[in-house]
Amino acid sequence: MNEEILQVRDLLVKFHTKYGTASAVNHVSFSLARGEKLGIVGESGSGKSVTSKSIIRLLQTPPAEISGEILFHDTDLLRLSEKAMQHYRGNKISMIFQEPMVSLNPLYTIGNQMSEVLFIHEKVSKAEARERVLAMLRTVEIPSPEERLRQYPFELSGGMRQRVMIAMSLLCHPEILIADEPTTALDVTIQAQILDLLNELNRKFNTSIIMITHDLGVIAEMVDRVAVMYAGRIVESAPVKELFSHPQHPYTIGLLNAIPKMKGDREKLETIEGTVPSLYQLPEGCAFANRCTYACSLCRGNQPPEIRQEGHSVRCFRYTDEWKES
Ligand SMILES: Nc1ncnc2c1ncn2[C@@H]1O[C@H](COP(=O)(O)OP(=O)(O)OP(=O)(O)O)[C@@H](O)[C@H]1O
Ligand SMILES: [Mg+2]
Repeated sequence: MNEEILQVRDLLVKFHTKYGTASAVNHVSFSLARGEKLGIVGESGSGKSVTSKSIIRLLQTPPAEISGEILFHDTDLLRLSEKAMQHYRGNKISMIFQEPMVSLNPLYTIGNQMSEVLFIHEKVSKAEARERVLAMLRTVEIPSPEERLRQYPFELSGGMRQRVMIAMSLLCHPEILIADEPTTALDVTIQAQILDLLNELNRKFNTSIIMITHDLGVIAEMVDRVAVMYAGRIVESAPVKELFSHPQHPYTIGLLNAIPKMKGDREKLETIEGTVPSLYQLPEGCAFANRCTYACSLCRGNQPPEIRQEGHSVRCFRYTDEWKES
């Protein structure tokens, strides 16, 4: 599983707006291996969606300004023309979103819009396209697929629409599927079914998955490795079991403590005090310092370096020699 198919290096995304410049993604680097499932977790506004939209180049520039490298195999996606990028988007790398209604065209039948994806990327006949679409609808376990072909998105339930989206995103057998909160809009049982389905498709096609969520339960169930984002940075990343058993960054520790624990018959939810700093005015030092019980002058004045130990990396001064000496 070690072949790295995606390498994001020093990704920086700024939005130039009338209020100033928002630094939404700050020096983000990570890689993804073939067949690997990577989770990106972090609270609202931490830059998860902006990071993933940068990968398939869905951000408008301007207002966005993107720099860094996004290597898919040896191709830097950020250097491609829009026309060249279309060969990758939806074909080599696909994305599914929280609300499938937004991505599905309400005016076309499921059959038409799914076939269209194949016509864009491959030379297939109408009959072939129909067969491939039907096969994929069966793979995602949509009942009576022939009937679905003639239906419009509004005729399907939320869970069915998300299955259609997943089927559509997998039609061209992409190497990477980016799932941005794919189950948030669904009720709990349907959520579990969709996660099972994604796991199964990952096994069947060896598709790498980037799963974006603010739900640590989804992370625990689903992914191999986790990156925790805070104010546009990856503050910690580790294999999933390691992250849950030995969280290092004070923010990660706070997130894990915020998971409701059953105490007798009372449910106790801890929250992290304070608020995320504005992306328009990020502090010089660690962005978490104002909420961190360990923060000292070192943290307030300087960016913490990345400390790496085997597969576990953390950006926090607590794990540096300077800290130990202070
Ligand atoms: N077009 C834009 N113009 C200005 N700021 C933007 C734009 N798009 C995103 N941002 C800002 O970038 C930051 C990161 O947004 P992003 O959508 O990546 O957050 P997220 O981690 O996906 O959050 P959520 O969990 O709510 O989906 C946010 O503060 C957002 O307001
Ligand atoms: Mg988002």
